[in-house]
Amino acid sequence: MIIHSKFKDYEVHMESNFDFLRELSQTPNAEFVIDEKVYGLYKTYFKEIPEERLFLVEATEEHKVIETALAICEKMTEIPAKRNAHLVSVGGGIIQDITGFVANVLYRGIPWTFVPTTLLASCDSCIGGKTSLNYKKYKNLLGTFYPPDALHICPGFFQTLSERDFESGLGEVVKFNIMAGEHGLKNIEDNIDRLLARDEDCLKQFVYSSLEFKKGFIEVDEFDRGERIKLNFAHTFGHAIETVTGYEIPHGTAVAIGMIMANRVAERRGMLDSEIARRSEKVLLRVIHIGIDLNEYPLERFISAMRKDKKQTSEHLTAVLMTNVAKDLKIVHDVQIEEVADARDYFEQLYHAQA
Ligand SMILES: NC(=O)c1ccc[n+]([C@@H]2O[C@H](COP(=O)([O-])OP(=O)(O)OC[C@H]3O[C@@H](n4cnc5c(N)ncnc54)[C@H](O)[C@@H]3O)[C@@H](O)[C@H]2O)c1
Ligand SMILES: [Zn+2]
Repeated sequence: MIIHSKFKDYEVHMESNFDFLRELSQTPNAEFVIDEKVYGLYKTYFKEIPEERLFLVEATEEHKVIETALAICEKMTEIPAKRNAHLVSVGGGIIQDITGFVANVLYRGIPWTFVPTTLLASCDSCIGGKTSLNYKKYKNLLGTFYPPDALHICPGFFQTLSERDFESGLGEVVKFNIMAGEHGLKNIEDNIDRLLARDEDCLKQFVYSSLEFKKGFIEVDEFDRGERIKLNFAHTFGHAIETVTGYEIPHGTAVAIGMIMANRVAERRGMLDSEIARRSEKVLLRVIHIGIDLNEYPLERFISAMRKDKKQTSEHLTAVLMTNVAKDLKIVHDVQIEEVADARDYFEQLYHAQA
């Protein structure tokens, strides 16, 4: 799959095994930035990387900061052939965000190859070119657009993900399928068992179709000014859930909950059929497992987190809502506090009724 971008067109390679890692390890003049945990698990495939070219990062939000980015830049000054310096990174969204930033600012941009190792990064964030760093208490405050030159996706990596990180990625996969309309919804209903069982062929197909779906939005609006905003479906609620719970709930899971909430608002407004809403929440509940009661957090904190979301354009609450027509999402600017409260209560009741 080729992604067309204003920066450069770049290719997504779908890999069936880890052999490509050996070849990648021989990239000349490269610095290899690898998630420490991934390096430990897949060491045998990284044997050929020279020790002096290896930079391991512990994938935590505390490390997704400018200091880590600067340390990588500094280490890369040791590469003698500066004009040919190349960055190869391997890991999830945290590694992607840090290394995309470095690749963009070092020498005003260097070639970058990214190997996503989480389902979330593979099915969603690896294309689209967003890079982000946290600063003090502000998540993703600093950022740029800079896509990689090449991507290698290998579903074999998903076998070692924790249940929590695997389900987080599935949240985004389910999101793309629900957004795609009846065909996508039916497809995810039919395959959710195989996906939960981590069937690699099935995961490969769904990662590919998720990226194809996202490609349709980012290619027409790379810089998030119009059509791409629709990909933010469920994210205003999701980001608020992440914020109020102090990131206890991972991104894709928060988005899955956000989808149930957004669809509740849309259904009450008469924008979305009950049948689609019921079928969607049934499949979403299969990928949501949380130990937190959202109603324990004051509603005001929830609303204030929604207001601070960087996609907000006015003092009114904006959200992207689904309609009955595939891909025809609506950006509404008048979400009421009462609607948020109702949607949150609705999710809580639904979640506890099935638990
Ligand atoms: N740039 C974007 O467009 C974008 C979009 C969404 C999210 N994000 C960012 O991505 C981050 C979340 O990323 P994520 O969920 O992909 O994962 P992550 O990078 O946060 O990693 C989650 C955990 O999984 C581990 N891990 C990674 N690969 C593994 C593997 N194959 N086997 C076992 N463990 C593995 C990591 O060490 C870590 O403990 C957040 O910081 C979020 O802000 C960025
Ligand atoms: Zn997301």
